[in-house]
Amino acid sequence: MANRFFEGVAHAAVYAKFRPSPPPSIIERVMAFLKEKYSGALTSACDVGCGSGQSTQILAPYFTSVTGLDVSQAQITEAIKLNNRNNVSFKVSGAEKLPFPDSSQLLVTSCQACHWFDIPQFYKEVDRVLVPGGVLAVYGYLFPRPICEDATGKLSEIVDHMYKKKLGRYIHQGSKEVYLENYMSDKFKLIYEEQVEIRDDTHYVDKVASVTELTGYITSWSGFQNFYKQNGDDAASQLLQRFQNRIMSALQVSTSPEETKVCLRYRYFLLMGRKPVGMMS
Ligand SMILES: C[S@@+](CC[C@H](N)C(=O)[O-])C[C@H]1O[C@@H](n2cnc3c(N)ncnc32)[C@H](O)[C@@H]1O
Repeated sequence: MANRFFEGVAHAAVYAKFRPSPPPSIIERVMAFLKEKYSGALTSACDVGCGSGQSTQILAPYFTSVTGLDVSQAQITEAIKLNNRNNVSFKVSGAEKLPFPDSSQLLVTSCQACHWFDIPQFYKEVDRVLVPGGVLAVYGYLFPRPICEDATGKLSEIVDHMYKKKLGRYIHQGSKEVYLENYMSDKFKLIYEEQVEIRDDTHYVDKVASVTELTGYITSWSGFQNFYKQNGDDAASQLLQRFQNRIMSALQVSTSPEETKVCLRYRYFLLMGRKPVGMMS
C-alpha cells in the first residue's frame, strides 16, 4: 500500500523549500550508462515519487518529454507550481501502476522515494514500461551532515541525536532504509542482471543553509511530521527550539539563527540496471 506521509499541503511546501536537488553528476552518470547501449532519440523518461519535482526537472535537458509521478496530489500541485520547463509534466500516480504504454520509456528514475513503494510491483511495472535497453535508476541520499570547521563533529552529533533519539520511535522503517542504510538490503536489489551500484563519495550536494533553515529542514522529515501529529504544536515547537539552541551553542557565534550559515552535505548513492536488449517483457 502507498505511504501517505507526504500528503499534506503544508508538508509539501516545506519539502519543496528544504530538500536538495540531485547533483548533475549523478544524472550524467545515469545518462552515460543509458547511452552505452542505446543510441536512438532520447524521447521519454519518467521520475516516480517525484515529490515537488526536484528530481524530475534535472532530466529535462536530456529528453524530449519527462513526466514526474507522485501518489500525493499536494506534492504534484507544488511540483506544477515550481515547474519552469516546457517538456516536463506532472501527474498523480502510484508507483505500482504506471500510466504509460508498454515499452514507452527510456529511463525510469526514483529519487529518495522507492522505500515507500511496493517494490516487487514497482519493478514489475518498470519492466513493462521500459524499452529494451532502457534503464532503471534508483537513487537517494544519506542523512545530511552539517560541515562547519571545528564544530562539524558536534553538529553531526546534534542532528543524529534528533533523528535517532528524539524522533527515533516516530521514524518509519522506510526512512531508515534510505537515510541510514542506503538501500543495502536485498529488498531493493534491482531485477536486471546488468547493473551498477555506486555507494561512495563520488556524488554529493552541499547546500548552504541558515540555522533557521536547518531547523526547517527537520520539519520535512516524516518522523517529525508523525511527532507533530501525535504531540501537537507546543511539543513540536519546543523540540525544534531546543534543537536550534543546541546548534547555536555548538557554533559559539553571536549572530542570530537567521544570519548564521552552515553547509549541509548530502551524499548520494545510485543503483542502476538495464533491461536486456532484444528481449520484450
Ligand atoms: C522523500 S519524497 C522524494 C521526492 C523527490 N523525488 C526528491 O528527490 O526530493 C518521497 C515521495 O514519494 C511519494 N510516494 C510515496 N509512496 C508512493 C507511491 N506508492 N507511489 C508514488 N509516489 C509515492 C511521496 O508522496 C513523496 O512525494
